[in-house]
Amino acid sequence: MEFAQQPILVTGGAGFIGANFVNDWLAGENTPVVTLDKLTYAGNPDNLSDWRGDARHEFVRADIGDVAAVNALLARVRPRAIVNFAAESHVDRSIHGPEDFITTNIVGTFRLLECARAYWSGLADAEQAAFRFLHVSTDEVYGSLQPGTAPFREINPFEPNSPYAASKAASDHLVRAWHHTYGLPVITTNCSNNYGPYQFPEKLIPLVIHHALVGKALPIYGDGRQVRDWLYVGDHCAAVRTVLRKGRLGETYNIGGWNEQANIDVVHMICDLLDAERPRGDGISYRDQVTHVADRPGHDRRYAIDAGKIFHELGWKPRESFATGLRKTIRWYLDNVAWVERVVSGDYRDWLAQNYAAR
Ligand code: NAD
Ligand code: DAU
Repeated sequence: MEFAQQPILVTGGAGFIGANFVNDWLAGENTPVVTLDKLTYAGNPDNLSDWRGDARHEFVRADIGDVAAVNALLARVRPRAIVNFAAESHVDRSIHGPEDFITTNIVGTFRLLECARAYWSGLADAEQAAFRFLHVSTDEVYGSLQPGTAPFREINPFEPNSPYAASKAASDHLVRAWHHTYGLPVITTNCSNNYGPYQFPEKLIPLVIHHALVGKALPIYGDGRQVRDWLYVGDHCAAVRTVLRKGRLGETYNIGGWNEQANIDVVHMICDLLDAERPRGDGISYRDQVTHVADRPGHDRRYAIDAGKIFHELGWKPRESFATGLRKTIRWYLDNVAWVERVVSGDYRDWLAQNYAAR
């Protein structure tokens, strides 16, 4: 088979963004996908259930840090690209227990890079030139912005503030070094906050939707004036496909929504949409459930992305506005209550107790 027709390997493809990426890819592209995922608490094979029995998709349960498993998979599948979404991704969890973040985000990425390098070194020249290692990262590596200052550009220095952000920054540096030193054909993307279907309800938007519907408090950390730059997940996935197709080797591309919002405003918008779509039985607005709780330690005040490079160089821009994306997201959660019920059992309740009980 021609190398261009070989599968792509998507790590972390059973998580929120990875699953959206795999689903969108298989719906719109011709080449197959192999998904590798450890299935931590955040990974859910149900997110990929559309492809059960479809020859274009294979799911493999493995850890990106398991060198023997990854080497064997690369030798068998011969992917034309690796898209690395696999990570521990929740800032609050990184504050309560940073070790998993070091293990997966730093050591795991290092081992995956070494496996990729060994595989790539053994390819024919034309295949080596076509191969890509795309590393999916975050805007949090750049630290926190003061109000009114310019959004993050790719040339901003790294100033990560949480254990999560520091571990992602370390992984970005490793990816850069594997290109500079060994010539591995890498590209890194640094994206802002995503929202949309299949997001685990530990993150702000799905947590607030879920808590609103089950009558729980909507916890706002501190004054709620922290700002995030929200991007609909489908737009992030389209950006990653664009970078994979046209991005320049060794470069980093910032991806964002040109959509800065304060947390309290986001929560109020969710309440207002739910008031319209699924009003409370007592006629009172969901805003009544908003509760201010103790702030996140080291909480970054503002993130904002200058996505000018990917727009001008590669022609990508988001399609969804925050209004259309948020409405779609809320409808997805209303239509998929069974999915939410399945993921909020067991360990999830322990997490809520750990993170919120003492606030
Ligand atoms: P997520 O936590 O929903 O999913 C992570 C997935 O990785 C899960 O399926 C999990 O099982 C898997 N995984 C974890 N450790 C693994 C390991 N050692 N080996 C194999 N698989 C493993 O995360 P997400 O929100 O989908 O984020 C995906 C990627 O995008 C991450 O790298 C994250 O840093 C980055 N990112 C996320 C956002 C966001 O807003 N969510 C924004 C920018 C960048
Ligand atoms: O910026 C990109 C990053 O966005 C990704 O790299 C991370 O993987 C992703 O989790 C996200 O990080 P945040 O910490 O910004 O997302 P989170 O949804 O956890 O929180 C969004 C904001 O809402 C943040 O300012 C903290 C606040 N918050 C969050 C929760 C869970 C609350 O006020 N209350 C809450 O209960």
